[in-house]
Amino acid sequence: MATGRGPPEPRVLLCLGALLARWVAAGLEAIIVGELHESITLPCGNISGPRGPVTWYRNNSEPVFLLSSNASLMRAEPRFSLVDSSSLHIDMLSLQDAGSYTCREMRNGTWWFPVWLQVASGPDHIEVNISATGTLDNGTLYVVKGSQVDFSCRSSAQPPPMVEWWFQAHSSPESFGSNLTVTCFTLLLMSQNLQGNYTCLATSKLSGRQRKVITELLVYSPPPSPPQCSAEMSLESSALQLTCRWDGGYPDPNFLWTEEPGGAILGKSKLEMLNRSQLQDGKKFKCVGSHIVGPESGASCVVQIRIPFLFSEPMKTCFVGGNVTLTCQVSEANPPAKIQWLRNLTQPEVVIQPDSHYLIAQNGQNSTLTIRNCSQDLDEGYYVCRAENPVGVREVDIWLSVKEPVNIGGIVGTIVSLLLLALAIISGLMLYYSPVFCWKVRSTFRGQDMGDVMVLVESEEEEEDEQEDAAEEVEEEEEETEREELPKQTKKHGHIHRVTALVNGNLEQMGNGLQDLRDDSSEQQNGSVREEDRPV
Ligand SMILES: *[C@@H]1O[C@H](CO)[C@@H](O)[C@H](O)[C@H]1NC(C)=O
Ligand SMILES: *[C@@H]1O[C@H](CO)[C@@H](O)[C@H](O)[C@H]1NC(C)=O
Ligand SMILES: *[C@@H]1O[C@H](CO)[C@@H](O)[C@H](O)[C@H]1NC(C)=O
Ligand SMILES: *[C@@H]1O[C@H](CO)[C@@H](O)[C@H](O)[C@H]1NC(C)=O
Ligand SMILES: *[C@@H]1O[C@H](CO)[C@@H](O)[C@H](O)[C@H]1NC(C)=O
Ligand SMILES: *[C@@H]1O[C@H](CO)[C@@H](O)[C@H](O)[C@H]1NC(C)=O
Ligand SMILES: *[C@@H]1O[C@H](CO)[C@@H](O)[C@H](O)[C@H]1NC(C)=O
Ligand SMILES: *[C@@H]1O[C@H](CO)[C@@H](O)[C@H](O)[C@H]1NC(C)=O
Ligand SMILES: *[C@@H]1O[C@H](CO)[C@@H](O)[C@H](O)[C@H]1NC(C)=O
Ligand SMILES: *[C@@H]1O[C@H](CO)[C@@H](O)[C@H](O)[C@H]1NC(C)=O
Ligand SMILES: *[C@@H]1O[C@H](CO)[C@@H](O)[C@H](O)[C@H]1NC(C)=O
Ligand SMILES: *[C@@H]1O[C@H](CO)[C@@H](O)[C@H](O)[C@H]1NC(C)=O
Repeated sequence: MATGRGPPEPRVLLCLGALLARWVAAGLEAIIVGELHESITLPCGNISGPRGPVTWYRNNSEPVFLLSSNASLMRAEPRFSLVDSSSLHIDMLSLQDAGSYTCREMRNGTWWFPVWLQVASGPDHIEVNISATGTLDNGTLYVVKGSQVDFSCRSSAQPPPMVEWWFQAHSSPESFGSNLTVTCFTLLLMSQNLQGNYTCLATSKLSGRQRKVITELLVYSPPPSPPQCSAEMSLESSALQLTCRWDGGYPDPNFLWTEEPGGAILGKSKLEMLNRSQLQDGKKFKCVGSHIVGPESGASCVVQIRIPFLFSEPMKTCFVGGNVTLTCQVSEANPPAKIQWLRNLTQPEVVIQPDSHYLIAQNGQNSTLTIRNCSQDLDEGYYVCRAENPVGVREVDIWLSVKEPVNIGGIVGTIVSLLLLALAIISGLMLYYSPVFCWKVRSTFRGQDMGDVMVLVESEEEEEDEQEDAAEEVEEEEEETEREELPKQTKKHGHIHRVTALVNGNLEQMGNGLQDLRDDSSEQQNGSVREEDRPV
């Protein structure tokens, strides 16, 4: 039987010994299989009980004596020995030991027992080649998803062994085919479910001895699309969270966040938190993702943070009892801003909460505040739209004025008044431009140039009474002039021309009555009309 004589795996060999000890009937001949360099015992017949003297021969062309139970006969080689006084034990089997043996037993006659010895060698080592693969630091192999992978397994043995490939993912192992001496196969499109353990198993057909090599193979794939950077407000809203999304790859990629420009390293994780002190409007952050089977230079994305920019109409009007909607449009904010509506009626400003009176709606970065049932006391005033993100806060004021609704009577009245006014203006213009009345109107305007006249009157100082009267009247004249009313000016006409005559030193003309004065003034007026291009 097998002994512990230098075999690498004693337990396996013991099992093999038990296996090999069985008789394989092939006609009358027993077939015994031994392994190279191992020991083997050839039994002399399948007989129990006391045995007679035995002699062992090797059958070549002529029988060759090996060993006998008669101690006076020398054994042919020291490798041979007798076990249980009948079986032949051979140490250190060589391939040349294979062949036919015969045992001769002397009992109540001469018995011949033939035995056929086969010597198997291997499989001792297996050559596995999987290509094309990469090797991790810990020695594990990986391949790229979708690539072609060639597997080959070779093992030498005598007689030639059976070589087979087995694959085990997580379920039970499955065979990928077997071949004598060599097995090659190719997987054209590696996929994730082909990741697992690949076992090449070589089995000696003679001895049943097995050798195997287990190779763990990982199937790696880079993320299918470029990375995407985004900036988000963190829960406390004081900090900013940078996110670099580069999903779908296996294993997970590595990330590197840097500040742009400059390249100062912020962190090496997918998510990075930044506090306010690191945030300035317009600042850029870059994420570089690298994957073991991805692009060599990595893939990157950039995110730029922006303070909110606000747009709104500066003022709105609402009629009492009506509804009004204030809108506030935020643009450029990155991360998206939190939008609030406030009233600055009281200090501090109050955030408006939506209720039955206020309706707040937000669509993307557009927010609207609808005020229902406007009331002048409650709702008129400034409203503030505030947009805030970790980069900053911006506010815009909107003035809401609340007006009484216009009633039909009022509208009609207004229209009629406007019509009348228009009529009056047209009539006035017609009168003004009519040649017949032209001089009258002119003279009236002429009379208004009283500033100069008044000064001259004061320097004259001839008649105290007259002067007092004139001064009074001039004052009156100034007041009247401001009103610019036509009928009253006609009344003042006389005074004006009296004063004018006094200035000119023509006292006689003064007493000549109104008619002369009219003629003079008409002459003067004509002259002045020529000089002046347009009426006052
Ligand atoms: C050996 O003999 C036993 C009974 O003595 C028998 O059962 C067995 O089958 C025999 N073996 C062979 C290989 O002939
Ligand atoms: C082996 O030799 C013996 C004795 O010479 C003979 O009887 C037997 O037939 C031979 N067997 C074979 C297989 O050659
Ligand atoms: C043993 O062998 C010797 C020498 O061949 C012989 O003389 C002797 O009789 C043998 N003994 C037996 C018991 O056969
Ligand atoms: C010889 O012995 C065997 C058993 O050992 C027996 O079966 C056989 O009958 C015997 N032959 C003679 C002639 O005694
Ligand atoms: C493995 O196989 C590839 C091609 O299939 C070959 O280029 C390479 O040399 C082989 N490696 C070994 C160690 O046999
Ligand atoms: C080697 O590393 C890879 C990746 O970290 C792991 O999946 C695998 O199980 C490791 N293998 C061994 C033998 O440690
Ligand atoms: C592959 O074999 C290794 C040990 O050789 C074991 O840790 C791993 O779980 C096996 N993987 C599978 C998928 O069976
Ligand atoms: C075994 O593989 C070899 C080499 O790949 C091939 O030539 C041979 O035909 C294969 N034999 C069988 C039985 O598949
Ligand atoms: C903000 O971050 C910088 C750099 O990471 C750190 O030095 C600083 O203490 C932080 N400030 C606060 C208020 O967390
Ligand atoms: C104001 O809005 C409310 C609710 O949407 C609606 O029921 C009401 O009729 C509106 N009032 C006016 C004057 O449009
Ligand atoms: C309300 O807003 C206006 C316009 O910005 C501002 O002038 C006024 O001081 C604010 N009032 C209060 C109480 O904040
Ligand atoms: C916001 O309002 C602007 C102008 O009204 C419009 O162009 C834009 O599409 C709006 N955005 C959303 C998300 O509704």
